[in-house]
Amino acid sequence: MHARPDAPFLRACRREPTPFTPVWLMRQAGRYMPEYRALRARHGFLELCKQPEAAAEVTLQPVERLGVDAAILFADILLPVEPLGVGLEFTRGEGPHIARPVRAAADVTRLPAVDVADALGYVFETVRQVRKALGDRLPLIGFAGAPFTLASYLIEGGASRDFLHTKRFMRAERAAWHALLARIAAVTGDYLAGQIAAGADAVQLFDSWVGTLAPDDYREFVLPHTRAVFAGLPAGVPTIHFGTGTAALLPLMKEAGGTVIGLDWRVELGSTWARLGHDVAVQGNLDPAVLLAAPADIRAGAGAILAQAGGRAGHVFNLGHGVHAETPVEHVRALIDVVHEMSAR
Ligand code: CP3
Repeated sequence: MHARPDAPFLRACRREPTPFTPVWLMRQAGRYMPEYRALRARHGFLELCKQPEAAAEVTLQPVERLGVDAAILFADILLPVEPLGVGLEFTRGEGPHIARPVRAAADVTRLPAVDVADALGYVFETVRQVRKALGDRLPLIGFAGAPFTLASYLIEGGASRDFLHTKRFMRAERAAWHALLARIAAVTGDYLAGQIAAGADAVQLFDSWVGTLAPDDYREFVLPHTRAVFAGLPAGVPTIHFGTGTAALLPLMKEAGGTVIGLDWRVELGSTWARLGHDVAVQGNLDPAVLLAAPADIRAGAGAILAQAGGRAGHVFNLGHGVHAETPVEHVRALIDVVHEMSAR
């Protein structure tokens, strides 16, 4: 089963008119929610992801409470990295850590083949359970990390500011770089297709850190691999292509694929949409830090973005990146209500 095709979120992805601007949030579930923190006090992060009942519960927690127009699967972009045997761990408060990062061409050759049904079947089971709970009412968004962002974690071994290992590897080991990204793209394509088959109505590709690249480097080292992921997905399923710090890369990201392009708050939505062309939908783009401000400021921030979108069909409201852990839940709820209220037509 899938959600009804006339759900406002799905209509907006297809650039069809909607009665109000649909909203969902990146990091819709997570540490800003007391319900999530209660579950996390008892389970490790990877453990939560691997228990379909628990992961489905976390996926659904914010849906009713916030009144969003789509659910986003609870998982992590790094789950497909685990079966590669590089020693993935989530350390409390510090995020992901990879014990044996990819630093040489031989490390790429050594990576084992991944059968997604076998290694990541637990994610597909979560999708099936969420879909069953949602019925045909609300769309479910599946997701995966994009080849560049996943490669950067594999090579750096964790978060990075300058991505120096990644950028060195890209040029010093050109052939191994392309082999690595092609491997990731193939696994990612199978993984997203599996989520769609299990009941996801749309998928988002997170290229969160690609904004660190120069446009020419994106074109040479990334675009063909990201394009392969999008090109391999079933036609007609909305796809969101997201990154941060991407102002200079957006036209190339559009070329790589996605029916919706994600914008962060560093760009102005109206002029950026015009520059990209109105033949593609856009998602965004409130600075998540605005949710720490007073309700009047949240209202003003949301209103400014809706004004930029100008009521044009094909705008999905979102933050420019994920909800910060420090955010009061009432502020998140207030944002969603105010977007619905101000955009109602
Ligand atoms: O958006 C959602 O609500 C769906 C769930 C989701 C998570 N991670 C849950 C999560 C999604 C879409 C992600 C994607 C993800 N994970 C990205 C891309 C999006 C982005 O933020 O740019 C990246 C880079 C990661 C890698 C990752 N996972 C980091 C850097 C961290 C630690 C830092 C942090 O912000 O928490 C995680 C852990 C993680 N993934 C948590 C959650 C709810 C927190 C884990 C905890 O409970 O401690």
